[in-house]
Amino acid sequence: MKIQSRLNFLSPCTFKSLRNFTILLSCFHLLAISPGAFASGDPKLGEQLYQSCAKCHGALGEGKNAEAAWAARGPKLAGQHAWYLRESITKYKNGLRAYEPSDRTGELMKGMAMTVILSKDENIEHIIAYLTNLN
Ligand code: HEC
Repeated sequence: MKIQSRLNFLSPCTFKSLRNFTILLSCFHLLAISPGAFASGDPKLGEQLYQSCAKCHGALGEGKNAEAAWAARGPKLAGQHAWYLRESITKYKNGLRAYEPSDRTGELMKGMAMTVILSKDENIEHIIAYLTNLN
């Protein structure tokens, strides 16, 4: 490879250590994303817990369209990525989403994020396991 020979020309060690470093980085990268990439929860338990979300997000997480009353209108969650669901819920909980009181729909979800169900990390994981298995 051209780049390899150029790097070898600069220093005989550079390419090897660069390559090893890259491999090492990729391993860390895999380790870093794998626990968050998939839901570790139980989808059966998630289905039960999800019933408290269904009023706004639909019986099967399909979401509600603009015809639904605004106070019972939530976006589609079925089939969403686990990391995104996890991150969104966390953001409602820590005030990074729905921090503006005039954000009416955001406030709805923030209220929900503060309930007992979503206060437990394991419950969030169960719900995520259920939702990511839906289409
Ligand atoms: C009272 C209605 C309501 C209930 C009940 C409700 N939500 Fe929501 N949810 C919303 C609304 C409205 C939004 C969009 C808020 C916004 O604009 O930020 C939302 C947004 C979300 C989002 C972010 C979606 C995205 O695409 O960014 C997630 C994740 C979520 N809800 C999960 C849940 C879960 C899990 C439950 C049940 C434990 C639940 N919600 C219960 C109304 C509700």
